[in-house]
Amino acid sequence: MAAPQNPLQSTGLDSRLRDAGLFIRQAIRTFRATGAVAPSSRALGHALARYIDQREDPDAQLSIMEAGAGTGAVSRVIAQHMRKGDTIDLVESNPEFAGRLADLLASDPELNPIADSATVHQMLVTDLGPDRRYDVIVSGLPFANFTAEEVREILEYYFSVLRPGGHVSLFGYLYTKQVKAVVAPREDYLRQARSSWVVEEWVNRYGIGTERVLANLPPAWIHHLRKPAED
Ligand SMILES: C[S@@+](CC[C@H](N)C(=O)[O-])C[C@H]1O[C@@H](n2cnc3c(N)ncnc32)[C@H](O)[C@@H]1O
Repeated sequence: MAAPQNPLQSTGLDSRLRDAGLFIRQAIRTFRATGAVAPSSRALGHALARYIDQREDPDAQLSIMEAGAGTGAVSRVIAQHMRKGDTIDLVESNPEFAGRLADLLASDPELNPIADSATVHQMLVTDLGPDRRYDVIVSGLPFANFTAEEVREILEYYFSVLRPGGHVSLFGYLYTKQVKAVVAPREDYLRQARSSWVVEEWVNRYGIGTERVLANLPPAWIHHLRKPAED
């Protein structure tokens, strides 16, 4: 007799619940690097995957990077938008998350279809090195927790490995600066203000669209940037 099907397993919901638990534990341990209280929503994932979906040449095979892949909440949605021949580098500095991502590529119903096209890199994104080229970079890094110098180094790195005409989509959370102005020490508020000015500088130079995703915890903004065809 066939074993009764576990409804949680068949939808991947059990693995998403486990990942939420792992994410929250790591957020408590390393909030500065994790930068969120819960994995991103699917709505945020779809909005971040916009330029994987909308490709200028429909036959193009994209080289994609996701920076700060965490427990794969956005990677799962990106996987839905990937087409035959696309490849993806999943970069994650936290060894617990990177190990989990590698397991998920082997076992998760939404990630397994891209297992042969995906590589997990357990490292800081800037340690990937200069010899890579990407058409699309999806960044989940918590810039609000970084210094202005760290944000600048990462954005410069993204644009150094991005192909001309390529896109970066990055996100942060709405109203964190306003909340910090009230509840955080002045030092921390000023650090975040300085790092957000660096993001603004890149948006002013390369921004092609900004959107809000309210269906996320907490609600988020996304900036889409495009490297000029001739830079
Ligand atoms: C806000 S979480 C996003 C996780 C996942 N993408 C999501 O949306 O649920 C940020 C992730 O970036 C990772 N991270 C932070 N700094 C990093 C760096 N410099 N390079 C690579 N990963 C980093 C953290 O460990 C964490 O998993």
